Amino acid sequence: MQIESYLREFKGFIQDFCAQLRLIHVDHLEKKWINIAFLIVALLVGIIMFDAFVHGINPPGKVETIDSASLHLSKEFAESNLGVQANDNGEIMIRMVAGRYSFFPKSITVPAETKLTFRWVSMDVLHGVHIPMTNMSTMIVPGYVAEITTSFPKPGEYPVLCNEYCGLGHNHMWSNISVVAKEDWHTPAKPLIKEESNNE
Ligand code: CUA
Repeated sequence: MQIESYLREFKGFIQDFCAQLRLIHVDHLEKKWINIAFLIVALLVGIIMFDAFVHGINPPGKVETIDSASLHLSKEFAESNLGVQANDNGEIMIRMVAGRYSFFPKSITVPAETKLTFRWVSMDVLHGVHIPMTNMSTMIVPGYVAEITTSFPKPGEYPVLCNEYCGLGHNHMWSNISVVAKEDWHTPAKPLIKEESNNE
């Protein structure tokens, strides 16, 4: 079998390689530093694993596309559907549109210390969104939906800032999120719409 011969060849190669490695003289001190370097790599990989499996911090894994030119005609990002919505389980979903030079809706109210799922889309060019004191910092690429889960540590007024240069008005591009105490927040009357694919 061809695969078996490949495997044998590979095994031979590895054995040769290891034998040659053993022949190389490595200074005692150098060996120590090699071990320290490996330990640092193992520590960093360990931290990444810990964050990924324990804290659930992952790079965005799903790519969701949307036609930026017809957002207003889409079901999900039609003007009447933007802003804060809650479903029966109390999960809160916020849909926001970025466009030169603001985030729409311009102002929303959400509860503190609550898991919030934001869905951002751009109606024109590349924007970014940064909300100080939260993990919210992402690019909003036209043609794609950026979904981020976050929560606000305490009540107050939080600015929503654009952090990607998007044109002459870039430095005026901001909006506002009012965060109120959990007890003071009232669920908006609008029900959560069904998750429908916007894919073209
Ligand atoms: Cu939008 Cu800068």
